Amino acid sequence: MKRVFSGVQPTGNIHIGNYLGALRQFVELQEENECIYCIVDLHSITVPQDPKELRKHILDVAALYLAIGIDPKKSIVFVQSDVSGHAELSWILTCNSYTGELSRMTQFKDKSKGKESAPTGLFTYPILMAADILLYDTDIVPVGNDQKQHIEICRDIAMRVNNKYKDTFVIPDGRFLKSGARIMSLDDPTSKMSKSAENIHSRISLLDEDSKIKKSIMRATTDSDGEIRFDPENKPGVSNLLSIYSAFSGESIDDIVAKYADCGYGDFKKDLVGITQEAVAPIKQNFNEIRESDELKAILRDGAEKANTIAEKTMKRVKDHFGL
Ligand code: ADP
Ligand code: NA
Repeated sequence: MKRVFSGVQPTGNIHIGNYLGALRQFVELQEENECIYCIVDLHSITVPQDPKELRKHILDVAALYLAIGIDPKKSIVFVQSDVSGHAELSWILTCNSYTGELSRMTQFKDKSKGKESAPTGLFTYPILMAADILLYDTDIVPVGNDQKQHIEICRDIAMRVNNKYKDTFVIPDGRFLKSGARIMSLDDPTSKMSKSAENIHSRISLLDEDSKIKKSIMRATTDSDGEIRFDPENKPGVSNLLSIYSAFSGESIDDIVAKYADCGYGDFKKDLVGITQEAVAPIKQNFNEIRESDELKAILRDGAEKANTIAEKTMKRVKDHFGL
């Protein structure tokens, strides 16, 4: 059995990019692996958060995990800050990483662009992520394409420690989906769909009303040549909609292109609205039931206990190898 670990930040607006790129794999993987799914609240405070909102968003993500089909009887579901090993291991890894390699992270470069100084947490974010993964002797990390570089630095740090000290860490592999691994923004299809973009029509949240889904898709940026064709470079908007269509329907992009050969963007978009509404409907319904139930907090407590048992073993090994 392989160990799987992944996390989502409790920053609200969990969108179809998060779902199609990462979350939907979580459910599948739990059948044949030992899965650990975390709500990474320590990552979310790299930028200021309102405490009340954060607390709410933590429970929202927990409920969403369960709503998409993560089963707490099969998988461990917990909140990062409930297990102190994450922050503790993060410091030890910080002492085994370099400012040079962190400076090359494109996510940090994007987030700090044009600023003379940036929050240190944004800079060291990949180290905390490495700690999350290595703390559980993880074999597989299912994430979206935007995390490729962070998985790579995690592997580098783990190998560095293994070479310098006794064999300490399992070297993990990223798992990226072929379709949906990078969903782009609906209004600017040259940047990725994100939780924080100001324009709410740039994304479709998993909890959006049907009318909002319709509006966002119908006004999504396309182009003026009117041809439904997959060409991310020259036709990023249409190609992104084709990716979403394919990921939700399971149909190949080629089949979809053939099906809409004689149609305009309007007809294609209308069908995509229906497909998207149908895909998120059961998630929304489950979410509302679970979010209101008393069970949620008990599930997280139980998850934290199980996660902590594994984490403590790893920390004992790490400290032993480091002479701490
Ligand atoms: P965000 O990047 O939206 O703030 P997180 O950092 O919590 O979200 O990421 C949760 C998961 O969703 C990660 O595995 C990430 O790679 C994936 N993800 C985020 N945005 C996208 C996107 N636009 N397309 C595909 N996957 C994405
Ligand atoms: Na991200």
